[in-house]
Order: sequence, then structure tokens, then C-alpha cells
Amino acid sequence: MGQPQQPDEAEAGAATPATAGAAVTAEADTGAGDGADATVAKPSLGVGMVGYAFMGAAHSQGWRTVGRVFDLPSRPVLAAICGRDATAVRSAADRHGWAAAETDWRALIERDDVDVVDICTPGDSHAEIALAALAAGKHVLCEKPLANTVAEAEAMVEAAESAYQRGQLAMVGFNYRRVPATALARRMVAEGRIGTLRHVRVTYLQDWLVDPEFPLTWRLRKESAGSGSLGDLGAHIVDLAQYLAGERLAGVSALTETFVRERPLPVGATSGLAAVSSAGTGPVTVDDAALFTGRFTSGALASFEATRYATGRKNALRIELNGERGSLAFDLERLNELAYHDATEPGEHAGFRRILVTEPDHPYLDAWWPPGHGLGYEHSFIHQARDLVHAIAEGRSPEPSFADGLQVQRVLAAVEESAEKNSVYTPIAV
Ligand SMILES: NC(=O)c1ccc[n+]([C@@H]2O[C@H](COP(=O)([O-])OP(=O)(O)OC[C@H]3O[C@@H](n4cnc5c(N)ncnc54)[C@H](O)[C@@H]3O)[C@@H](O)[C@H]2O)c1
Repeated sequence: MGQPQQPDEAEAGAATPATAGAAVTAEADTGAGDGADATVAKPSLGVGMVGYAFMGAAHSQGWRTVGRVFDLPSRPVLAAICGRDATAVRSAADRHGWAAAETDWRALIERDDVDVVDICTPGDSHAEIALAALAAGKHVLCEKPLANTVAEAEAMVEAAESAYQRGQLAMVGFNYRRVPATALARRMVAEGRIGTLRHVRVTYLQDWLVDPEFPLTWRLRKESAGSGSLGDLGAHIVDLAQYLAGERLAGVSALTETFVRERPLPVGATSGLAAVSSAGTGPVTVDDAALFTGRFTSGALASFEATRYATGRKNALRIELNGERGSLAFDLERLNELAYHDATEPGEHAGFRRILVTEPDHPYLDAWWPPGHGLGYEHSFIHQARDLVHAIAEGRSPEPSFADGLQVQRVLAAVEESAEKNSVYTPIAV
């Protein structure tokens, strides 16, 4: 894992032309609706996106908005979107502001007006699309988890590293790093505000599988999703824990469980989170919940819980770090806030205080609203687009890189191995 990047270190406006093999053309922005100041000539950066459902909508919002809010070195253009159903993808293109629609991702990758391929499909297609896009000279943004297996992720890293030599970048979409409060927490840890780290305690709780009649969508099948709560929610919290701690996990000890082993088969159009069921049923082949403890390389201890069965919890990602000089705590359901306890303060005044993370000198917030006018979930995707555009302009490897994604994949694999062996402590491969 590379050194965590401080998002506000990126020099706004420090424009150098993108270095990738893909064409980046300078032109005045005359197009309505795709970004920046119409009077300023900036190189355009064509984006092509595969997948148009949940993440497709979130990433579209990011690409559509980023140039209107941030002063970028290039001008993202929503060139083309891809899905397999021609009518549905055309409708998604119109709804989300994409100029063209494709029904084959190979055709999208070959387009001259696409410089960045943004992969928003289930995990079973990440490796194939990313490898082809890198081979075609494009930059790549790939949703998490990076792949369905360690072997796929290793191949993606190898391709990304050789593509980097040609000026192409590859980033994985761990967007929770891009919430201003988590980015501030990272900055405070790096500044030594909590001192030597002792504990990281993190849970990611949802409840959309509590109903045993919820259909067997792609998220519940190993061949399409790789794993269940582990790869979906666990990947996020492993990345966030390591990012905030600034170090890697060395080993884990785990339990996983599949509570409902048979579910109704879906019919018609489905997404990972919604579908209509039919009469038949099929086996659930992924975990429903994963609990694990871990040891960081420094000796700090961590605990993780990822589940879709936490009745009443919708998207409750909570993380707390305890150090010898203080503690930090974040809750995604209150994402404009960061709790901080400074243990060096006199005991009679000490205690957790709420930092309202809306000040202009907080990460990303110089471009947003006046203090106190909060941001939401979608802004993490706008910030993700911002950071990738800057990295491309500066020719530096973006974070989280594919190598960071591979390292998370190795943690997930160690969790599965440990769970299969009755929680035996399992070192993470390096
Ligand atoms: N960063 C986050 O917070 C977050 C949240 C949800 C999902 N994800 C990740 O995003 C990815 C997509 O998840 P989602 O929730 O958007 O799923 P989804 O089911 O809502 O959408 C998947 C999309 O991929 C398309 N698709 C599937 N195979 C395709 C193919 N071969 N060619 C073209 N299009 C294809 C589908 O038509 C659909 O549009 C997954 O990797 C998931 O883990 C990330």
C-alpha cells in the first residue's frame, strides 16, 4: 500500500497535459452541461463508463458535477456509457448526461473520444474490462472490490504497472476515503494527533437481506460477486481502516456465516439490490456476514464486522481509532461530523468533541458551500473524480491504486481462509 494521499495536497489548477497514450485534445468548452468555465480552454478528458445502475448513477453524478465545482486541469466529458440492453442504456445516457451509448464494452474501449474507462459492473467483469482498457491505452477507474480473486487482482496490478510506464493510470473506487471527515481523520492521524495507534474498531452494517424472500441477485452468487458482505462491505472497511491507520494488516482471524442458504430466483431486469422473484429457488453461495479481528504491522489491533443482517441498520459504517494521545470516531450516517478526543487535555475538560467538517480548510471543502452547509454520500464520487483528474494531469499514480486494491483482496482471501479453518490466525500475503 502506498502512502495515503492527502487530498488537499493536490495542487488545484496545476495543469500539465494528460500523459496517457489516449488522445487528450485542448479546446474551448462550448458544450453546455459538461463542466467548466466556457471561456477557458482546457484539455478535455473523455470518460467512458461501463454499467449504468447504482454505481453508474453515482459515478455519472461525479463526472457531471466535478468540473462545475472544482478548478480542474482538464475538462471531463461524458463521452459514452455502456450496457447490454440498447433501449435501457440509451435511456440511462439521456438521464445521466452521456453523449453516446454502446452495448458492447469492447466498442466503448476502442472509441477515440474515451480516455478514461470507468468500470461500474459486478466483480466478475472487472478484470477483463480493465485489462482490455489498459491494453487499449486508456486510464482506468474500477469499482471495488478490485476483482473477484487474488489471481485476477494480481494480473490487473501487473497490467497497471506496465501501463503506468506508458503514462496511463489505474485507480480503484474506495470512495469512502473521499468523505471530507475521513480525509480529515487521515490528516489528523498523520499529524500525530492520536499518537501511537492501539485499536481500530470498524463495523459496516446493512439490513437488506433480512427478508428470506429477497431474490438471489448477482450479489448473492460467488461466480458474479466473488464473496458476499465480505467483498462488498468488508472491502470498504478494510481499505478505510488501513488508509486511516496508514499501515497494513499483517494477519486476521475470522468467522463467516450464510444465514439464508436458498433464495427465490430473480426474473427480468435486476440490479444487485433489487429484483422481482419467480417460483424457483437457488443456493446462496456467498457469506451473509463476516466478523474478523486483525493485527496491524505496528502491533495495533483491529476488529471488523460486515453484515447485511443488522436489522434496522441501513448503511452504518462506523470506525473508531484509539491512540495513546487521543481517539477519532466517524459514522457514515452522520458524515459531516468527526468526533475527536484529545487525551493530552486536562482531565476535567477532556472528552469527545464534535468537529463539524464543513470548514474551507477541511479536505475538499474549499470548493463547496459556506460552513455548516453539509455534504452527502454522492460527494464522495465527485471527489473521487476530482482526485483522478488531478492525478492524470500530474502523471502520478492515483490512490487507492490497483496495488492497494490487490492488498485489500489479499486481506479478504485471508479472512475466507481463516473462516474455513475455524478462525485460525492467517497472515496476509505480501
Ligand atoms: N463504492 C461504493 O460505495 C459501491 C456501492 C455499490 C456497489 N459498488 C460496486 O460497484 C460495482 C457495481 O455495483 P452496482 O451496485 O452498481 O450494481 P448494479 O447491479 O446496480 O449495476 C450493475 C451494472 O452493470 C451492468 N453490467 C453487468 N455486466 C455487464 C457487462 N458484461 N457489460 C456491460 N454492462 C454490464 C448492468 O447492466 C448494470 O447496469 C460492483 O463492483 C460493486 O461492488 C460500489
